[in-house]
Amino acid sequence: MSQQQWTTVDEYFSALLAPEDEVLDAALRDSAAAGLPEINVTPNEGKLLHLLAQIQGARRILEIGTLGGYSTIWLGRALPADGRLVSLEAEPANAEVARGNLARAGLAGIAEVRVGPARDSLSQLVADGAEPFDLVFIDADKSNNPHYLEAALQLTRPGSVIVGDNVVRGGEIADSESTKPTIQGLRRFLELTAEHPRLSATAVQTVGRKGYDGFSLARVVA
Ligand code: SAH
Ligand code: DHB
Ligand code: MG
Repeated sequence: MSQQQWTTVDEYFSALLAPEDEVLDAALRDSAAAGLPEINVTPNEGKLLHLLAQIQGARRILEIGTLGGYSTIWLGRALPADGRLVSLEAEPANAEVARGNLARAGLAGIAEVRVGPARDSLSQLVADGAEPFDLVFIDADKSNNPHYLEAALQLTRPGSVIVGDNVVRGGEIADSESTKPTIQGLRRFLELTAEHPRLSATAVQTVGRKGYDGFSLARVVA
């Protein structure tokens, strides 16, 4: 099994099941033109997030880590016209690109990008007594994932879903000796998820054009 095979099958699935339209293409074009790193979810992963949100019947979505808003568009398109999406982004320049991409997608009235360290924005949402979110997508600086999980638990309700991106990282996740803050943060996040009495969770390994990685999926049960 090789990266080339994973990419070929990913491209087959994407073309068949998650074809990109002009709006998604343009979002990636503008992201690249602005010098953003190409670490957005793939089309097929975007479609998975979109379907999860719809299966969940989500009306309110929280995203941690916006980049250029590519995943935000897939998620935002799963919402009803009166739905709400809040996406948190530390870099003002990224947020600016994302806002342009969301406006082009016709999602400016539904999706809002809040600029600043996500930990601060999450504290603010809690302090404001924000209505619970039905789905949370965690995809920012992975070292802070334990904190994001705690915040997500304060901002959800029984039945909400918490999705974590990049929990495999080419298999490094299984290295208990890793000194990388990213891996340590992801491992702590998964341990907290596993032991939390309010959560029921699993994790899925994925391969595709972005290599070998995966998602965690948790349901808030109480
Ligand atoms: N979800 C996006 C990809 C996000 S990449 C997609 O799939 O299209 C991760 C993003 O998290 C980057 O834009 C980065 O600037 C942002 N980020 C990193 N640390 C952060 C922090 N502490 N608070 C908020 N955003 C952060
Ligand atoms: C990286 C971050 C991501 O969110 C991702 O999906 C892939 C790669 C990274 O920082 O390398
Ligand atoms: Mg990611």
